[in-house]
Amino acid sequence: MVEIRYFSKSGNTKAIAQSIAAAVGAEAHDISTPLSGKADILFLGGAVYAFRIAGKLKKFIKTLSPEAVGKVVVFSTAGNPAGASQLIKKQLRKCGIVPAAEEFHCVGRLAEDEAVQKQAAQFARETIDRLDHDKR
Ligand SMILES: Cc1cc2nc3c(=O)[nH]c(=O)nc-3n(C[C@H](O)[C@H](O)[C@H](O)COP(=O)(O)O)c2cc1C
Repeated sequence: MVEIRYFSKSGNTKAIAQSIAAAVGAEAHDISTPLSGKADILFLGGAVYAFRIAGKLKKFIKTLSPEAVGKVVVFSTAGNPAGASQLIKKQLRKCGIVPAAEEFHCVGRLAEDEAVQKQAAQFARETIDRLDHDKR
């Protein structure tokens, strides 16, 4: 089962979550919606605010356990082109979860651009294909 969760204050990360959702045929929910069961793949998104990820996203990550999530694939937006992915991955590792190497990030103000939306969708499809292939 593929799950998508994100934290987004102003909608940029949500826009990326929605293009990932459309690409993989799943629904994107913000982190107030708990996982509904074991997630084979969890796409997890967030952004940078004053050099940090949101406390609420940190709290959500603390609720995850390696038994409940197969692979966690991070996506993010930020003012800076590197996004928030490294910050999110660091928090996952702190909680004993090894994030997938694949990640998607973009500059927040470009998150609704058609080209970026297409890249996010392609990233999601390729990631699912790769992870499915690795399982075989
Ligand atoms: C209060 C605030 C603080 C921010 N601080 C940073 C920052 O330290 N570094 C950065 O790269 N971007 C920063 N940004 C830009 C956001 O990371 C960027 O706009 C992101 O796409 C917001 O995601 P969201 O729309 O999903 O909330 C900040 C934005 C806000 C509103």
